[in-house]
Amino acid sequence: MTNYLPGFVNHHATEAVPGALPVGRNSPQKVPFGLYAEQLSGTAFTAPRAENRRAWLYRLRPTAQHPAFQPYQGAPHLRSTPFDQVPPSPNRLRWDPLPWPDQATDWVDGLITYGGNGDVGTGHGVAIHLFAATSDMERRAFFSADGELLIVPEHGRLRIDTEQGRIDLTPLQVALIPRGVRFRISLPDGRARGYVLENHGALFRLPDLGPIGANGLANPRDFETPVAWFEDDDSEWQIVQKFGGGLWSTTLPHSPFDVVAWHGNLAPCRYDLTRFNTINTVSFDHPDPSIFTVLTSPSDTPGTANCDFVIFPPRWMVAEDTFRPPWFHRNVMSEFMGLITGAYDAKEGGFVPGGASLHNQMNGHGPDWASYEKAVNADLKPHKIEGTMAFMFETRHPVRLTRWAAEAPTAQLDYDAVWEGFPKAQLP
Ligand SMILES: [Fe+2]
Repeated sequence: MTNYLPGFVNHHATEAVPGALPVGRNSPQKVPFGLYAEQLSGTAFTAPRAENRRAWLYRLRPTAQHPAFQPYQGAPHLRSTPFDQVPPSPNRLRWDPLPWPDQATDWVDGLITYGGNGDVGTGHGVAIHLFAATSDMERRAFFSADGELLIVPEHGRLRIDTEQGRIDLTPLQVALIPRGVRFRISLPDGRARGYVLENHGALFRLPDLGPIGANGLANPRDFETPVAWFEDDDSEWQIVQKFGGGLWSTTLPHSPFDVVAWHGNLAPCRYDLTRFNTINTVSFDHPDPSIFTVLTSPSDTPGTANCDFVIFPPRWMVAEDTFRPPWFHRNVMSEFMGLITGAYDAKEGGFVPGGASLHNQMNGHGPDWASYEKAVNADLKPHKIEGTMAFMFETRHPVRLTRWAAEAPTAQLDYDAVWEGFPKAQLP
C-alpha cells in the first residue's frame, strides 16, 4: 500500500482510522469519535474556485488550545524582510557549502537566511534559507505563518512529519509545505543539508504549458501527498512559528500531530525531480531557461513571477551550430542558484553541491572561461549531460542579502575572476 496520494493540488480524502472522516459534510454536529473539525484556509474564503485552497482537519484537540506564544531565542541566523542589515549589492556572489555545525543543531536552529525580498506583511517576495542540521527535532514542531516552504535537500535524507502525514525525502526530491502547516524534521542519516525557499506570494502552481500542450515539464500526477497519519503522544511539545518575520514559541501538553483524518486540496506534497519531463531544442539555440520551470508563484504582473523554481536536470544536448551552455545575459529577474549533485554546465569549477550563487537584477553573468572555451570548440555531436541537478530560485525583485551571507566565511571573494581572461573579439 502506498503512503502517498498522487496529483498536484488534488482534492484528497484520507483517514488513518476507518470511520474518522465525516461523510457528506465538513462540520457535522457530532464528528466521529468526538474529533474536532477545523478548517485550514490557504486562500481567502472568497478566492475563485480554481484558486481556492483549503483543507478540513479532524483532530484529537483543536489547534486553538494553546498558551500564548513568547519570543523564541533560537535559530540565530534566521532572518526576514525587510532585509536591511546591509545595502543591496549588485555584485555577483558565490558561496561554498555550509560547514556542519559544531554542536548538535536541529533543522529549525540550523536555518541560515541568505537573503530575500518583498514584504511578509503584505504578502509578496521570498526568503532564501539554507540549512545544515545534525540532530532530529525532538518533540518540537515548526511552521511558517509567513509563507509556504519549498524544501530542497542536498545532502542526507529528511523525514518530515506533518499534520497531514509523513513525507520521506531524499536529495533529488523536494517538499512543499503549506503556510501554517506544522511539521517536524528528523534525519535518518544523522545529518542533512539543503535549501529552503519561503514564498510570501501567491501559492506555487504548475506553470502554464502554452504550445507545449497538455503534457510535459513537471506532470501533475508525479506530485505525492501523504495519507493521514497521527500520533497519540501526551508528552510536552514545543511549537515554534515564524510570524511577521519573527520567531515565537509555545508549548503543548501533546503532539501537534493529532490529525486523524483530513480532506481538501491544501496539503504538503513531495516531488521527485528525476521525473521532470525536460524539454529543450532539437534544432538550434538554447531556449530561455524558463523551459525548465517546475513551479511558479505568479505575481500581479502577467508572466512576471514572484518566484520560479527552475531545475537544470540531466538532458541530451543536440543543438546544431549553437553555443550549448546557458548564454551570457543580463536579466530583469534575479537568480539564486544551488546545486544538488554533479556539475552545472556553465561553470567548470567553484560551484559545488551545497554551494550557492547569486546573480542579481541586471548584472551580467554567464559561462566561465573554461566552459566557454570548451563549448565553442566542442564537436557538436549529440551529448548527454548526466549526473547533475542544479536549480534556481528566480525572483522578480533583487535579492537583498543578510549580513551573514554578505560576510560569510564561505563567500568566494574572487568570484568575479571566473569572467576574466576572455580575449577581445577580433574584427576583420
Ligand atoms: Fe542567469
